[in-house]
Amino acid sequence: MEIGTFHGRSFFPLKCKSKIAVDPDFRFSDKDKREWKLKNLCNFRNRYFEKTSDNFFKEDKDFLNNFGKIDLIFIDGLHTFRASLNDALNSLKYISVCGFIVMHDCYPPHKAAATPASSLDDAEEMNLDGWTGEWCGDVWKTIVYLKEKYGNSLKVNTLNADYGLGIIQMENSNFDLEIDQELFDRITQMKYEEVTDKFNELLNLKEVNELELIL
Ligand SMILES: C[S@@+](CC[C@H](N)C(=O)[O-])C[C@H]1O[C@@H](n2cnc3c(N)ncnc32)[C@H](O)[C@@H]1O
Repeated sequence: MEIGTFHGRSFFPLKCKSKIAVDPDFRFSDKDKREWKLKNLCNFRNRYFEKTSDNFFKEDKDFLNNFGKIDLIFIDGLHTFRASLNDALNSLKYISVCGFIVMHDCYPPHKAAATPASSLDDAEEMNLDGWTGEWCGDVWKTIVYLKEKYGNSLKVNTLNADYGLGIIQMENSNFDLEIDQELFDRITQMKYEEVTDKFNELLNLKEVNELELIL
């Protein structure tokens, strides 16, 4: 499953039995879908949900329950702390025991890219110093939250690749998924520029050559 499918550049080429695409604004046409079926037969079984991930998880519970547990969920939707945390917590309900959640944009390259905003357009309109068009927002706070709240139940690492790939694995499946408001508020107050020197520890940063160890 991919949350935030955009043009489908990561989604369509991927080879696996069944795939789910979720995005309120798909940037591909029916013709693109047909062409991708011919290029990769796995795309015959795709399911598409053109809606926000919050609405998808709210409205399509029956679909998800019937679909069966999901082995890989790639979260790359709205780049805010709240939205990415919702995506991660909702994903944990449907991930298979040995599955992985991979979250994009957990290690912003600089302060402008880490600016909390409600959307890419909002971030762009802020005329930020050092703005390069790259926007990870404060998705990194979701990693901090998951590490702190679920230290005993989840294995959380961040791969130092492609804006930071959070890798979340279940160690046991017995935990509550309610948002801890006090923890959420505390982490919301954290500022990128004040914690960059602690990122190694906060995000459990790992280099690409350590990937096999993580898995
Ligand atoms: C950075 S793009 C995703 C790129 C894509 N994953 C790829 O690898 O090519 C972010 C996408 O998230 C989508 N998005 C924005 N808000 C969303 C939300 N609330 N729920 C799900 N997707 C959302 C946008 O429409 C956009 O297509």
